[in-house]
Amino acid sequence: MKPQEVKVRLREELKNLRESLSPAQREAAAVVAEAKIIHLSSWQKAKVVCLYASFKGELPTTQLLQNLLSSKKRCVLPKVNADGLPELYEIKSFQDLELSSLEILEPKINCPRINPTQIDFFLVPGIGFDRQGNRLGHGSGFYDRLLAQASPSAFLLGYGYDFQVVHAIPHEAHDIAVHAVATPTQIINIKPA
Ligand SMILES: Nc1ncnc2c1ncn2[C@@H]1O[C@H](COP(=O)(O)OP(=O)(O)OP(=O)(O)O)[C@@H](O)[C@H]1O
Ligand SMILES: [Mg+2]
Repeated sequence: MKPQEVKVRLREELKNLRESLSPAQREAAAVVAEAKIIHLSSWQKAKVVCLYASFKGELPTTQLLQNLLSSKKRCVLPKVNADGLPELYEIKSFQDLELSSLEILEPKINCPRINPTQIDFFLVPGIGFDRQGNRLGHGSGFYDRLLAQASPSAFLLGYGYDFQVVHAIPHEAHDIAVHAVATPTQIINIKPA
């Protein structure tokens, strides 16, 4: 099977698992995962952090966003532009966010635009990850395009439920791997190949 075909199957399988969780289970999982992240030295050192607002079945990022906004760090979120490509904007509060046509909270257009090379720490969503840092997203290449513009010194942290870490995620030339994955029970540090 081609990597693209395996990706399509895995996306469906993992999305179904995610949909089966209750709101209480999601919240409980996020509380412990978020606590692990704020103790990471890469998080503590970071001055400019790119988060994302979780949507649908994703492991919630709300507390992390709140924590970041009340810290001295700068808080940046992605926005989908008219061509479907990623752009980054800095926000100061939840009031700087609005629902996009895809029902995802994104920065309002009057927020200052940020160059991806300025980011020290990216929280990276995914439908699946493996222990080599390979990542499966929604299939538009949105995060692959965004992370391709990141500074080589930026720390890329995948974020998801434990069941989203699977044996192997097929990867293609354009796929950008993460440096570690945070789940409610562990931080998986990826060893350089
Ligand atoms: N840097 C890039 N430049 C141009 N096209 C790209 C780039 N990255 C990915 N793509 C395109 O995006 C398509 C989808 O990529 P892929 O299947 O890896 O998505 P994904 O990683 O699951 O999704 P996402 O990154 O949106 O979460 C690929 O077929 C590829 O052609
Ligand atoms: Mg990809």
